Amino acid sequence: MNTQNNNIKTSKSIYFYKNHIAINGGKKLEGHLTINGAKNSALALMAASILAKGEINLFNVPKISDVEKMSTLLIKMGINIKTHRKRLEINTKKILEPSENSFSDLFNSLRASFFCIGPILARFGRAKIPLPGGCSIGARPIDEHIDSLKKLGVQFKFKNNYIIAEVINPNKKLIGSLINFKCKSVGATETLLMAATLAKGQTILNNAAQEPEIIDLANMLIKMGAKVKGAGTASITIDGVESLSGCDYNVMADRIEAGTFLIAAAITRSNISLSPVEPNHLQAVINKLEECGCKFEYSHQYLKIIPNEVLKSVNITTKPFPGFPTDLQAPFMALMATAIGVSEIKETVFENRMHHVKELNRMGAKITVKKDIATILGVKNLQGSSVIGLDLRATAALALAGLSANGKTIIQGLEHLERGYEDFPSKLKEIGAEIINEEKKIKICYQ
Ligand code: UD1
Repeated sequence: MNTQNNNIKTSKSIYFYKNHIAINGGKKLEGHLTINGAKNSALALMAASILAKGEINLFNVPKISDVEKMSTLLIKMGINIKTHRKRLEINTKKILEPSENSFSDLFNSLRASFFCIGPILARFGRAKIPLPGGCSIGARPIDEHIDSLKKLGVQFKFKNNYIIAEVINPNKKLIGSLINFKCKSVGATETLLMAATLAKGQTILNNAAQEPEIIDLANMLIKMGAKVKGAGTASITIDGVESLSGCDYNVMADRIEAGTFLIAAAITRSNISLSPVEPNHLQAVINKLEECGCKFEYSHQYLKIIPNEVLKSVNITTKPFPGFPTDLQAPFMALMATAIGVSEIKETVFENRMHHVKELNRMGAKITVKKDIATILGVKNLQGSSVIGLDLRATAALALAGLSANGKTIIQGLEHLERGYEDFPSKLKEIGAEIINEEKKIKICYQ
Protein backbone atom coordinates (compact mmCIF):
# COMPACT_ATOMS: atom_id res chain seq x y z
CA MET A 1 0.00 0.00 0.00
CA ASN A 2 1.61 3.23 -0.96
CA THR A 3 -1.05 5.89 -0.50
CA GLN A 4 -0.12 8.29 2.23
CA ASN A 5 -2.31 10.97 3.71
CA ASN A 6 -0.19 12.44 6.48
CA ASN A 7 -1.16 15.88 7.65
CA ILE A 8 1.26 18.46 9.05
CA LYS A 9 -0.47 21.25 10.95
CA THR A 10 0.91 24.77 11.22
CA SER A 11 -0.84 27.75 12.82
CA LYS A 12 -2.60 28.77 9.62
CA SER A 13 -2.53 25.89 7.17
CA ILE A 14 -2.79 22.16 6.81
CA TYR A 15 -0.56 20.45 4.28
CA PHE A 16 -1.81 17.16 2.84
CA TYR A 17 0.65 14.81 1.24
CA LYS A 18 -1.26 12.72 -1.22
CA ASN A 19 0.11 10.15 -3.65
CA HIS A 20 -0.95 10.07 -7.22
CA ILE A 21 0.34 8.38 -10.32
CA ALA A 22 1.53 10.00 -13.50
CA ILE A 23 1.21 7.90 -16.66
CA ASN A 24 3.11 8.74 -19.83
CA GLY A 25 0.67 7.34 -22.34
CA GLY A 26 1.08 5.85 -25.77
CA LYS A 27 3.48 3.05 -24.83
CA LYS A 28 2.88 -0.48 -26.10
CA LEU A 29 2.55 -3.22 -23.49
CA GLU A 30 4.11 -6.65 -23.85
CA GLY A 31 4.59 -9.70 -21.67
CA HIS A 32 2.84 -11.87 -19.14
CA LEU A 33 0.98 -11.06 -15.91
CA THR A 34 -0.04 -13.30 -13.03
CA ILE A 35 -3.58 -12.75 -11.83
CA ASN A 36 -4.15 -12.50 -8.07
CA GLY A 37 -6.79 -14.13 -5.93
CA ALA A 38 -10.25 -12.57 -6.30
CA LYS A 39 -11.14 -9.67 -3.98
CA ASN A 40 -14.84 -10.46 -3.94
CA SER A 41 -14.21 -14.11 -3.24
CA ALA A 42 -11.57 -13.56 -0.53
CA LEU A 43 -13.87 -11.19 1.41
CA ALA A 44 -16.75 -13.69 1.42
CA LEU A 45 -14.43 -16.58 2.37
CA MET A 46 -13.03 -14.53 5.26
CA ALA A 47 -16.59 -13.86 6.49
CA ALA A 48 -17.35 -17.60 6.15
CA SER A 49 -14.44 -18.40 8.47
CA ILE A 50 -16.64 -17.12 11.35
CA LEU A 51 -18.68 -20.32 10.87
CA ALA A 52 -15.76 -22.71 11.49
CA LYS A 53 -14.81 -24.12 14.85
CA GLY A 54 -11.30 -24.96 13.58
CA GLU A 55 -8.57 -23.23 11.60
CA ILE A 56 -9.08 -21.93 8.06
CA ASN A 57 -5.99 -21.61 5.88
CA LEU A 58 -6.78 -19.31 2.98
CA PHE A 59 -4.21 -19.36 0.16
CA ASN A 60 -3.82 -16.89 -2.73
CA VAL A 61 -5.33 -13.97 -0.79
CA PRO A 62 -4.70 -10.65 -2.60
CA LYS A 63 -2.76 -7.94 -0.74
CA ILE A 64 -5.35 -5.17 -1.01
CA SER A 65 -6.77 -2.72 1.50
CA ASP A 66 -10.28 -4.29 1.55
CA VAL A 67 -8.71 -7.56 2.75
CA GLU A 68 -6.67 -5.64 5.36
CA LYS A 69 -9.87 -4.00 6.65
CA MET A 70 -11.72 -7.32 6.79
CA SER A 71 -8.77 -8.87 8.70
CA THR A 72 -8.84 -6.00 11.22
CA LEU A 73 -12.58 -6.46 11.68
CA LEU A 74 -12.25 -10.21 12.31
CA ILE A 75 -9.33 -9.62 14.71
CA LYS A 76 -11.51 -7.15 16.66
CA MET A 77 -14.06 -9.96 16.95
CA GLY A 78 -11.41 -11.98 18.81
CA ILE A 79 -10.43 -14.13 15.82
CA ASN A 80 -6.73 -14.87 15.52
CA ILE A 81 -5.32 -14.11 12.06
CA LYS A 82 -1.73 -14.68 10.99
CA THR A 83 -0.62 -13.44 7.60
CA HIS A 84 2.11 -15.35 5.75
CA ARG A 85 2.59 -13.58 2.42
CA LYS A 86 -0.55 -14.60 0.50
CA ARG A 87 -1.80 -17.08 3.09
CA LEU A 88 -4.13 -16.16 5.91
CA GLU A 89 -4.28 -18.49 8.88
CA ILE A 90 -7.66 -17.76 10.51
CA ASN A 91 -8.27 -19.33 13.89
CA THR A 92 -11.80 -18.92 15.22
CA LYS A 93 -11.43 -20.93 18.45
CA LYS A 94 -11.84 -17.73 20.47
CA ILE A 95 -14.51 -15.43 19.11
CA LEU A 96 -16.24 -12.54 20.83
CA GLU A 97 -19.67 -11.24 20.02
CA PRO A 98 -19.39 -7.97 18.10
CA SER A 99 -19.87 -4.91 20.26
CA GLU A 100 -21.24 -1.75 18.72
CA ASN A 101 -18.58 0.71 19.76
CA SER A 102 -15.36 -1.04 19.01
CA PHE A 103 -15.45 -1.17 15.24
CA SER A 104 -18.48 0.58 13.78
CA ASP A 105 -16.20 2.70 11.58
CA LEU A 106 -14.70 -0.45 10.08
CA PHE A 107 -18.13 -1.89 9.26
CA ASN A 108 -19.00 1.46 7.68
CA SER A 109 -15.88 1.69 5.56
CA LEU A 110 -16.13 -1.81 4.10
CA ARG A 111 -19.51 -2.70 2.67
CA ALA A 112 -18.59 -6.38 2.26
CA SER A 113 -18.27 -6.56 6.07
CA PHE A 114 -22.09 -6.58 6.18
CA PHE A 115 -21.89 -10.11 4.75
CA CYS A 116 -20.68 -11.17 8.23
CA ILE A 117 -24.28 -10.92 9.48
CA GLY A 118 -25.17 -14.39 8.15
CA PRO A 119 -22.28 -16.26 9.83
CA ILE A 120 -22.62 -14.23 13.07
CA LEU A 121 -26.33 -15.12 13.34
CA ALA A 122 -25.67 -18.77 12.50
CA ARG A 123 -22.94 -18.98 15.16
CA PHE A 124 -24.37 -16.78 17.98
CA GLY A 125 -28.11 -16.48 17.29
CA ARG A 126 -27.84 -12.70 17.51
CA ALA A 127 -25.94 -9.83 15.91
CA LYS A 128 -25.65 -6.10 16.40
CA ILE A 129 -23.97 -4.31 13.54
CA PRO A 130 -24.07 -0.85 11.97
CA LEU A 131 -26.40 -0.29 9.02
CA PRO A 132 -24.34 -0.06 5.84
CA GLY A 133 -24.76 3.32 4.17
CA GLY A 134 -25.22 3.92 0.48
CA CYS A 135 -22.00 4.29 -1.49
CA SER A 136 -20.79 6.29 -4.42
CA ILE A 137 -22.08 3.81 -7.02
CA GLY A 138 -25.63 3.70 -5.65
CA ALA A 139 -27.94 3.22 -2.68
CA ARG A 140 -27.11 -0.50 -2.36
CA PRO A 141 -30.08 -1.56 -0.22
CA ILE A 142 -30.06 -4.62 2.06
CA ASP A 143 -33.76 -5.53 1.94
CA GLU A 144 -33.05 -8.90 0.29
CA HIS A 145 -30.66 -9.87 3.10
CA ILE A 146 -33.13 -8.80 5.80
CA ASP A 147 -36.32 -10.26 4.26
CA SER A 148 -34.65 -13.63 3.62
CA LEU A 149 -33.05 -13.86 7.07
CA LYS A 150 -36.53 -13.17 8.53
CA LYS A 151 -37.71 -16.33 6.73
CA LEU A 152 -34.96 -18.26 8.55
CA GLY A 153 -36.44 -17.06 11.86
CA VAL A 154 -34.58 -13.80 12.52
CA GLN A 155 -36.26 -10.80 14.11
CA PHE A 156 -34.87 -7.31 13.37
CA LYS A 157 -34.86 -4.01 15.21
CA PHE A 158 -33.23 -0.84 13.91
CA LYS A 159 -31.87 1.55 16.53
CA ASN A 160 -29.45 4.48 16.24
CA ASN A 161 -28.18 3.29 12.85
CA TYR A 162 -27.61 -0.23 14.16
CA ILE A 163 -29.29 -3.46 13.12
CA ILE A 164 -30.14 -5.64 16.08
CA ALA A 165 -30.92 -9.13 14.83
CA GLU A 166 -32.01 -12.06 16.96
CA VAL A 167 -33.02 -15.61 16.14
CA ILE A 168 -36.52 -16.01 17.62
CA ASN A 169 -36.26 -19.76 18.19
CA PRO A 170 -35.51 -20.47 21.92
CA ASN A 171 -32.47 -22.62 21.07
CA LYS A 172 -31.19 -19.71 18.89
CA LYS A 173 -30.91 -21.93 15.83
CA LEU A 174 -31.90 -20.68 12.39
CA ILE A 175 -34.62 -22.70 10.65
CA GLY A 176 -34.25 -23.74 6.99
CA SER A 177 -36.76 -22.19 4.60
CA LEU A 178 -37.69 -21.55 0.96
CA ILE A 179 -36.30 -18.19 -0.20
CA ASN A 180 -37.33 -16.61 -3.49
CA PHE A 181 -35.04 -13.59 -3.97
CA LYS A 182 -36.78 -10.66 -5.66
CA CYS A 183 -33.55 -9.61 -7.39
CA LYS A 184 -30.25 -11.33 -8.13
CA SER A 185 -27.91 -10.16 -5.38
CA VAL A 186 -24.38 -11.52 -4.89
CA GLY A 187 -24.24 -10.31 -1.28
CA ALA A 188 -27.72 -11.58 -0.30
CA THR A 189 -27.04 -14.98 -1.88
CA GLU A 190 -23.73 -15.20 0.05
CA THR A 191 -25.32 -14.07 3.34
CA LEU A 192 -28.09 -16.67 3.09
CA LEU A 193 -25.79 -19.41 1.82
CA MET A 194 -23.53 -18.95 4.85
CA ALA A 195 -26.38 -18.61 7.35
CA ALA A 196 -28.22 -21.71 6.06
CA THR A 197 -25.22 -24.03 6.49
CA LEU A 198 -25.84 -24.21 10.26
CA ALA A 199 -29.66 -23.93 10.14
CA LYS A 200 -31.97 -26.73 11.19
CA GLY A 201 -33.30 -28.45 8.05
CA GLN A 202 -33.23 -27.53 4.39
CA THR A 203 -32.98 -24.08 2.77
CA ILE A 204 -33.62 -23.50 -0.93
CA LEU A 205 -32.42 -20.24 -2.49
CA ASN A 206 -34.30 -19.45 -5.71
CA ASN A 207 -33.26 -16.66 -8.11
CA ALA A 208 -29.80 -16.93 -6.52
CA ALA A 209 -26.85 -15.01 -7.97
CA GLN A 210 -24.70 -17.24 -10.20
CA GLU A 211 -21.35 -15.43 -10.02
CA PRO A 212 -18.20 -17.63 -9.89
CA GLU A 213 -17.49 -16.17 -6.43
CA ILE A 214 -20.68 -17.90 -5.17
CA ILE A 215 -19.31 -21.23 -6.43
CA ASP A 216 -15.98 -20.50 -4.72
CA LEU A 217 -17.78 -19.78 -1.43
CA ALA A 218 -19.91 -22.93 -1.74
CA ASN A 219 -16.81 -25.02 -2.48
CA MET A 220 -15.08 -23.79 0.68
CA LEU A 221 -18.23 -24.34 2.77
CA ILE A 222 -18.43 -27.91 1.40
CA LYS A 223 -14.76 -28.45 2.39
CA MET A 224 -15.73 -27.23 5.89
CA GLY A 225 -18.44 -29.93 6.04
CA ALA A 226 -21.49 -28.03 4.72
CA LYS A 227 -24.06 -29.69 2.45
CA VAL A 228 -24.59 -27.39 -0.53
CA LYS A 229 -25.86 -28.28 -4.01
CA GLY A 230 -26.50 -26.15 -7.09
CA ALA A 231 -24.11 -23.20 -6.50
CA GLY A 232 -23.59 -21.50 -9.86
CA THR A 233 -27.21 -22.16 -10.87
CA ALA A 234 -30.26 -20.05 -9.99
CA SER A 235 -31.37 -22.55 -7.32
CA ILE A 236 -29.12 -23.55 -4.41
CA THR A 237 -30.07 -26.20 -1.85
CA ILE A 238 -28.45 -26.23 1.57
CA ASP A 239 -29.02 -28.97 4.15
CA GLY A 240 -28.05 -27.59 7.56
CA VAL A 241 -25.38 -29.41 9.61
CA GLU A 242 -24.54 -29.25 13.35
CA SER A 243 -21.10 -27.64 12.99
CA LEU A 244 -18.41 -26.76 10.46
CA SER A 245 -14.69 -27.41 10.74
CA GLY A 246 -11.56 -25.68 9.45
CA CYS A 247 -9.97 -26.38 6.05
CA ASP A 248 -7.31 -25.28 3.56
CA TYR A 249 -8.66 -23.33 0.61
CA ASN A 250 -7.23 -21.58 -2.45
CA VAL A 251 -9.03 -18.34 -3.46
CA MET A 252 -10.08 -18.38 -7.16
CA ALA A 253 -8.35 -16.07 -9.65
CA ASP A 254 -9.78 -12.56 -9.92
CA ARG A 255 -11.84 -12.40 -13.13
CA ILE A 256 -12.27 -8.61 -12.76
CA GLU A 257 -8.52 -8.02 -12.44
CA ALA A 258 -7.99 -10.27 -15.49
CA GLY A 259 -10.71 -8.39 -17.42
CA THR A 260 -9.13 -5.05 -16.51
CA PHE A 261 -5.75 -6.16 -17.92
CA LEU A 262 -7.39 -7.53 -21.10
CA ILE A 263 -8.92 -4.09 -21.62
CA ALA A 264 -5.51 -2.48 -20.86
CA ALA A 265 -4.07 -4.57 -23.71
CA ALA A 266 -6.95 -3.67 -26.03
CA ILE A 267 -6.80 0.07 -25.33
CA THR A 268 -3.04 0.14 -26.05
CA ARG A 269 -3.45 -2.28 -29.00
CA SER A 270 -0.89 -4.58 -27.35
CA ASN A 271 -0.50 -8.35 -27.08
CA ILE A 272 -0.25 -9.61 -23.51
CA SER A 273 -0.92 -12.91 -21.78
CA LEU A 274 -2.44 -13.67 -18.39
CA SER A 275 -2.63 -16.66 -16.07
CA PRO A 276 -4.34 -18.18 -14.21
CA VAL A 277 -7.56 -17.32 -16.02
CA GLU A 278 -10.80 -19.26 -16.36
CA PRO A 279 -12.25 -18.03 -19.71
CA ASN A 280 -15.77 -19.17 -18.70
CA HIS A 281 -15.67 -16.53 -15.96
CA LEU A 282 -15.00 -13.84 -18.59
CA GLN A 283 -16.99 -15.12 -21.57
CA ALA A 284 -19.24 -12.03 -21.86
CA VAL A 285 -16.17 -9.76 -21.83
CA ILE A 286 -14.19 -11.93 -24.26
CA ASN A 287 -17.21 -11.97 -26.64
CA LYS A 288 -17.37 -8.15 -26.65
CA LEU A 289 -13.61 -7.79 -27.09
CA GLU A 290 -13.78 -10.22 -30.04
CA GLU A 291 -16.70 -8.28 -31.51
CA CYS A 292 -14.66 -5.06 -31.45
CA GLY A 293 -11.62 -6.67 -33.08
CA CYS A 294 -9.49 -8.64 -30.57
CA LYS A 295 -8.34 -12.23 -31.03
CA PHE A 296 -7.64 -14.69 -28.22
CA GLU A 297 -5.43 -17.75 -27.73
CA TYR A 298 -6.02 -20.01 -24.75
CA SER A 299 -4.30 -23.07 -23.33
CA HIS A 300 -3.71 -24.36 -19.79
CA GLN A 301 -5.13 -21.33 -17.88
CA TYR A 302 -2.95 -19.06 -20.07
CA LEU A 303 -4.95 -16.47 -22.04
CA LYS A 304 -3.37 -14.26 -24.71
CA ILE A 305 -5.11 -11.26 -26.25
CA ILE A 306 -4.16 -10.00 -29.72
CA PRO A 307 -6.05 -6.78 -30.59
CA ASN A 308 -6.33 -5.28 -34.08
CA GLU A 309 -4.74 -1.84 -34.52
CA VAL A 310 -8.21 -0.46 -35.29
CA LEU A 311 -11.03 -1.44 -32.93
CA LYS A 312 -14.69 -0.82 -33.69
CA SER A 313 -17.42 0.29 -31.30
CA VAL A 314 -19.76 -2.26 -29.71
CA ASN A 315 -22.75 -1.86 -27.40
CA ILE A 316 -22.89 -3.39 -23.94
CA THR A 317 -25.51 -3.82 -21.23
CA THR A 318 -24.32 -4.79 -17.76
CA LYS A 319 -26.11 -7.76 -16.20
CA PRO A 320 -25.63 -10.26 -13.37
CA PHE A 321 -23.36 -13.22 -14.29
CA PRO A 322 -23.13 -14.67 -16.94
CA GLY A 323 -23.89 -11.22 -18.39
CA PHE A 324 -21.36 -8.41 -18.83
CA PRO A 325 -20.07 -7.52 -15.33
CA THR A 326 -20.89 -4.06 -13.97
CA ASP A 327 -17.39 -4.01 -12.45
CA LEU A 328 -15.89 -3.83 -15.98
CA GLN A 329 -18.33 -1.23 -17.33
CA ALA A 330 -16.06 1.76 -16.60
CA PRO A 331 -12.87 0.14 -18.02
CA PHE A 332 -14.80 -0.92 -21.15
CA MET A 333 -16.12 2.62 -21.58
CA ALA A 334 -12.53 3.91 -21.61
CA LEU A 335 -11.82 1.42 -24.41
CA MET A 336 -14.91 2.46 -26.39
CA ALA A 337 -13.75 6.08 -26.12
CA THR A 338 -10.89 5.09 -28.45
CA ALA A 339 -12.82 2.81 -30.85
CA ILE A 340 -14.15 3.71 -34.30
CA GLY A 341 -17.85 4.63 -34.32
CA VAL A 342 -20.57 5.16 -31.72
CA SER A 343 -21.31 2.75 -28.89
CA GLU A 344 -23.96 2.61 -26.20
CA ILE A 345 -23.28 1.33 -22.71
CA LYS A 346 -26.29 0.63 -20.49
CA GLU A 347 -25.73 0.17 -16.75
CA THR A 348 -28.54 -1.93 -15.28
CA VAL A 349 -26.99 -3.16 -12.00
CA PHE A 350 -26.14 0.05 -10.11
CA GLU A 351 -27.95 3.35 -10.57
CA ASN A 352 -25.03 5.73 -10.08
CA ARG A 353 -22.04 4.16 -11.78
CA MET A 354 -21.01 6.82 -14.31
CA HIS A 355 -18.50 8.88 -12.26
CA HIS A 356 -15.77 8.20 -14.80
CA VAL A 357 -17.64 9.91 -17.67
CA LYS A 358 -16.80 13.46 -16.61
CA GLU A 359 -13.15 12.55 -16.10
CA LEU A 360 -12.88 10.64 -19.40
CA ASN A 361 -14.38 13.68 -21.17
CA ARG A 362 -11.69 15.79 -19.50
CA MET A 363 -9.25 13.57 -21.40
CA GLY A 364 -10.93 14.34 -24.72
CA ALA A 365 -13.51 11.52 -24.78
CA LYS A 366 -16.90 12.31 -26.31
CA ILE A 367 -19.43 10.73 -23.95
CA THR A 368 -22.94 11.83 -23.10
CA VAL A 369 -25.16 10.22 -20.46
CA LYS A 370 -28.97 10.01 -20.34
CA LYS A 371 -30.26 8.16 -17.28
CA ASP A 372 -28.44 4.80 -17.29
CA ILE A 373 -27.20 4.93 -20.90
CA ALA A 374 -23.88 6.39 -22.00
CA THR A 375 -23.34 7.17 -25.68
CA ILE A 376 -19.70 7.18 -26.69
CA LEU A 377 -18.35 8.64 -29.90
CA GLY A 378 -14.88 7.16 -30.34
CA VAL A 379 -11.99 9.62 -30.85
CA LYS A 380 -8.64 9.03 -32.53
CA ASN A 381 -6.63 9.87 -29.41
CA LEU A 382 -7.33 10.69 -25.78
CA GLN A 383 -5.25 13.51 -24.29
CA GLY A 384 -3.33 13.34 -21.02
CA SER A 385 -4.96 15.36 -18.24
CA SER A 386 -5.33 15.57 -14.46
CA VAL A 387 -8.22 13.38 -13.31
CA ILE A 388 -9.70 11.99 -10.10
CA GLY A 389 -11.01 8.49 -9.54
CA LEU A 390 -14.05 8.41 -7.28
CA ASP A 391 -14.56 4.68 -6.97
CA LEU A 392 -12.53 1.52 -7.46
CA ARG A 393 -13.37 0.58 -11.05
CA ALA A 394 -13.71 4.21 -12.20
CA THR A 395 -10.11 4.82 -11.08
CA ALA A 396 -8.93 1.71 -12.96
CA ALA A 397 -10.75 2.98 -16.07
CA LEU A 398 -8.92 6.32 -15.86
CA ALA A 399 -5.58 4.52 -15.57
CA LEU A 400 -6.39 2.54 -18.73
CA ALA A 401 -7.38 5.74 -20.53
CA GLY A 402 -4.06 7.25 -19.38
CA LEU A 403 -2.15 4.32 -20.90
CA SER A 404 -3.53 5.11 -24.34
CA ALA A 405 -3.60 8.93 -24.11
CA ASN A 406 -1.13 11.33 -25.71
CA GLY A 407 1.10 12.85 -23.04
CA LYS A 408 0.92 12.72 -19.27
CA THR A 409 -2.16 11.77 -17.22
CA ILE A 410 -2.17 12.41 -13.50
CA ILE A 411 -4.55 10.21 -11.57
CA GLN A 412 -5.68 10.90 -8.04
CA GLY A 413 -7.85 8.59 -5.97
CA LEU A 414 -5.28 5.81 -5.61
CA GLU A 415 -6.88 4.76 -2.31
CA HIS A 416 -9.81 3.42 -4.38
CA LEU A 417 -7.47 1.47 -6.66
CA GLU A 418 -5.70 -0.07 -3.68
CA ARG A 419 -9.02 -1.38 -2.33
CA GLY A 420 -9.20 -3.97 -5.07
CA TYR A 421 -6.02 -4.22 -7.19
CA GLU A 422 -2.73 -5.47 -5.76
CA ASP A 423 0.21 -3.38 -7.04
CA PHE A 424 -1.74 -2.18 -10.08
CA PRO A 425 0.80 0.43 -11.26
CA SER A 426 3.75 -1.96 -10.69
CA LYS A 427 2.09 -4.72 -12.68
CA LEU A 428 1.47 -2.38 -15.60
CA LYS A 429 5.09 -1.17 -15.37
CA GLU A 430 6.24 -4.83 -15.56
CA ILE A 431 4.72 -5.08 -19.04
CA GLY A 432 6.03 -1.78 -20.36
CA ALA A 433 3.80 1.03 -19.06
CA GLU A 434 5.54 4.25 -18.06
CA ILE A 435 4.11 5.12 -14.65
CA ILE A 436 5.60 7.27 -11.93
CA ASN A 437 4.36 7.42 -8.34
CA GLU A 438 4.45 11.06 -7.30
CA GLU A 439 3.73 12.78 -4.01
CA LYS A 440 1.88 16.07 -4.11
CA LYS A 441 1.79 18.59 -1.30
CA ILE A 442 -1.64 20.20 -1.02
CA LYS A 443 -2.04 23.28 1.18
CA ILE A 444 -5.38 24.10 2.79
CA CYS A 445 -5.66 27.39 4.71
CA TYR A 446 -7.94 27.68 7.72
CA GLN A 447 -9.00 30.45 10.03
C1 UD1 B 1 -21.11 -7.50 -5.26
C2 UD1 B 1 -19.65 -7.20 -5.51
C3 UD1 B 1 -19.51 -5.97 -6.43
C4 UD1 B 1 -20.32 -6.16 -7.71
C5 UD1 B 1 -21.77 -6.53 -7.38
C6 UD1 B 1 -22.58 -6.88 -8.63
C7 UD1 B 1 -18.59 -7.96 -3.47
C8 UD1 B 1 -17.85 -7.60 -2.25
N1 UD1 B 1 -18.98 -6.94 -4.25
O1 UD1 B 1 -21.66 -6.40 -4.55
O2 UD1 B 1 -18.13 -5.83 -6.77
O3 UD1 B 1 -20.32 -4.96 -8.45
O4 UD1 B 1 -21.79 -7.69 -6.51
O5 UD1 B 1 -21.96 -7.89 -9.36
O6 UD1 B 1 -18.78 -9.12 -3.77
N2 UD1 B 1 -29.91 -5.12 -4.22
C9 UD1 B 1 -31.16 -4.88 -3.66
N3 UD1 B 1 -31.42 -5.33 -2.40
C10 UD1 B 1 -30.48 -6.02 -1.67
C11 UD1 B 1 -29.22 -6.28 -2.25
C12 UD1 B 1 -28.96 -5.82 -3.53
O7 UD1 B 1 -32.01 -4.25 -4.29
O8 UD1 B 1 -30.78 -6.39 -0.53
C13 UD1 B 1 -29.60 -4.62 -5.57
C14 UD1 B 1 -28.45 -3.61 -5.58
O9 UD1 B 1 -28.89 -2.31 -5.28
C15 UD1 B 1 -27.93 -3.73 -6.97
C16 UD1 B 1 -28.16 -5.21 -7.31
O10 UD1 B 1 -29.10 -5.68 -6.36
O11 UD1 B 1 -28.73 -2.95 -7.83
C17 UD1 B 1 -26.91 -6.07 -7.23
O12 UD1 B 1 -26.27 -5.86 -5.99
P1 UD1 B 1 -25.47 -7.01 -5.26
O13 UD1 B 1 -25.30 -8.17 -6.21
O14 UD1 B 1 -26.10 -7.28 -3.96
O15 UD1 B 1 -24.07 -6.32 -5.04
P2 UD1 B 1 -23.08 -6.55 -3.82
O16 UD1 B 1 -23.21 -7.95 -3.32
O17 UD1 B 1 -23.19 -5.43 -2.87
